[in-house]
This record gives sequence, structure tokens and C-alpha cells, in this order.
Amino acid sequence: MAKSILILPGDGIGPEIMAEAIKVMRLANDKYQLGFELIFDELGGAAIDKYGVPLADETLERARQADAVLLGAVGGPKWDKLERDIRPERGLLKIRAQLGLFGNLRPAILYPQLADASSLKPEIVSGLDILIVRELTGGIYFGKPRETRVLENGERLSLDTLPYSESEIRRIAKVGFDMARLRNKKLCSVDKANVLESSQLWREVVEQVAKDYPDVELSHMYVDNAAMQLVRAPKQFDVIVTDNMFGDILSDEASMLTGSIGMLPSASLDANNKGMYEPCHGSAPDIAGKGLANPLATILSMSMMLRYSFAQTAAADAVEQAVSDVLDQGLRTGDIWSEGYSKVSTREMGDAVVAALAKL
Ligand code: NAI
Ligand code: MG
Repeated sequence: MAKSILILPGDGIGPEIMAEAIKVMRLANDKYQLGFELIFDELGGAAIDKYGVPLADETLERARQADAVLLGAVGGPKWDKLERDIRPERGLLKIRAQLGLFGNLRPAILYPQLADASSLKPEIVSGLDILIVRELTGGIYFGKPRETRVLENGERLSLDTLPYSESEIRRIAKVGFDMARLRNKKLCSVDKANVLESSQLWREVVEQVAKDYPDVELSHMYVDNAAMQLVRAPKQFDVIVTDNMFGDILSDEASMLTGSIGMLPSASLDANNKGMYEPCHGSAPDIAGKGLANPLATILSMSMMLRYSFAQTAAADAVEQAVSDVLDQGLRTGDIWSEGYSKVSTREMGDAVVAALAKL
């Protein structure tokens, strides 16, 4: 049966990097007989220009109907003067929330060819390949009450709330265990159970879920220690599962171990592994339209789509191998270029990945 992929190129470098990811996807589609049918629509500024809103109802409906969504990036100076509620970024938050994408997967992989781009010593980061599973639709970013009060003495007091229900914890824990199963069967759950009530429940529920995954080795770590361990010895981790705020901070920390943001893909999944896939970077207006953008984060997001939404492991492995091969060939877009390598444009990089994939 045909699988439909909704393509939302977005703004800035979005259409440029997406064009390259689509070339790679079309080849993978033929080579591995994936049966993908591509549908195109707009999100963000491009949607404002076309529909008058950053996420049109019909686009949301197409996203619901599609088997997966592949997104470029949104935003840019053209729409900066609009009010916050109708800006491009609203469309992104809305589509994530409306699709119930609570499971955010952020891999941090250091390609050996880019070892000198990391901020850490090669012996600490070489071979790094970890996955952070972040809860994306609950916790302190959404908890109520959230307010600022004026006390009797006239001083202001602000508060946020960190709620997690058992079902919210259970479903993200399952994502963590499922991912661990697809990888090296090692899961570290990160919390602050020595201090926070919600973290105690988190730990309890993760332990319960673990009973269904006897083949996965589970450990627990407090978040402050995890932050330290990520820069001390990041390779001790394989999959980390954690809440919304801890995951936000730890995944940014982990991403920096790998060099350029132009290399980092992500996935956001719902309960049925239906997902939206996008590079971690934004629309990079400073380099848009110049052929300078690195398309690899988007190509790697597409390969995450193959892996997680469609269980097309061989095709996903091949796309990742092709990316590794072009790095071996010494090809570099500006963000990862250094003396001695060949500087290539967005399109040349995409073409090289296509050529490498065709040879596999
Ligand atoms: P950004 O990620 O767009 O750019 C940060 C820096 O990284 C820039 O110097 C840019 O040139 C560079 N860069 C980003 N992606 C690159 C790539 N693929 N290849 C080479 N270099 C790359 O973040 P910034 O500048 O803070 O935001 C620009 C716009 O993007 C804003 O409107 C922002 O709201 C939006 N944005 C959208 C996101 C999304 O769609 N998921 C995420 C982050 C920002
Ligand atoms: Mg962040």
C-alpha cells in the first residue's frame, strides 16, 4: 500500500535543503521499493503568504492523513513584525501539539570524519552515538498554575508547575525502551527523584514499564550528574529518556559534542510512531538562497523517518552510509569545512549523497 509523506519545506533555507532530501528520498523510494507518495504543502511564513495563517486547517488535515511529515524550517525577517500568535513559529508549535507528538528523539552522532569539529577531545567523543528521548508535550512547559502574583507586601511572586501523570510517563518510557531495543538495549532514565515529587513518580513508572522489557538494561541518573557525565564520558550512554525541560537542556548540551547544527536531525513521534521529522536548525536567513546550507541534517531526518515510522532499517542504514561516504570523500559545506577539504554547495552535497546511495 502507498505511504504518503507530507513535505513542508518552510522558509529560508528550508526549500533548498528539502530539495536535496527529496532527491535522496526518491532514489531510496525506487531502490528499496518503499511505495512512498509525496504530498506538498506549506508551513510557517510560506503558509502565511499562501493561506494567511502559519498553519492552515487543510494543511493540518493533510498532516493527520499522511503517514509521516518531513519539515524543513520556518521563520524569517519577512514575518518578524507580525504579532506572536500569527508568526511562522506558531505554526510549528501548533502542528506538534495538534498531532500529539510527545516523543522527541534527538540523536547526537559524531561522524569520525568531523572529529575535529567537536568541542571535546577526540578520545572522549570519537564514535559518539547517543539518542536522547525527550518528553515534548507535558511537564513544566505546560503545567498549570503558571502565574505571577502580587504578595501582601507588594513583592511579586512567579510560579510554574511540573506535573506528570502516570500515563504521560508510561508512554514516553515506552518510547525510550523501544528505541533502546532498536539500538544497544541500554536505557538511562534521567530525573531528579532525590528532590522532586514528579520525578519519584517518574522513576516508579519507568521501573514498572521496565518489566515488559527484560532484555533492556535500565539505569537511573540524577539530571545534574547526567549533565556532568555528558561532557566527562558521553560514550557511557546509549539511549537517555527524560522529561521535557531536562531533555531540552541535555539535548542541546549533547548536540554541541558533535560539531555543526547542520548535521543534526530530529524526530517527534506520537503514540503510533507516526512522526514529524525535521533538522534541529532553523531557517538560517543569513545564508538563505545562496546554496550554502548543509542539507545533511534534513537528509538524516529523512533517514530517521525511514527507521522509526516505517521500520525500513536497510534503507535508513544505506542513507546514513551514503552521508558517511560523502564525508569520506572530503566534501564539506561551509559550516563543516576546514582547510584541506573540498567546499561544496547545498546542491552538490545532495547530488553526492544521491551518487553514494546509488552505489550501495
Ligand atoms: P538558525 O538555526 O536558523 O541559524 C543559526 C546559525 O546556524 C546561523 O548562522 C545559520 O547560518 C547556521 N545554520 C543553520 N542551519 C544551517 C545549515 N543547514 N547549514 C549551514 N549553516 C546553518 O537559528 P536562528 O538564526 O536563531 O533563527 C533563524 C530563524 O529560524 C528564526 O526565524 C527562528 O525563529 C527560526 N527557527 C526555526 C526553527 C525551526 O523551524 N525548527 C528552529 C530554530 C529557529
Ligand atoms: Mg532548546
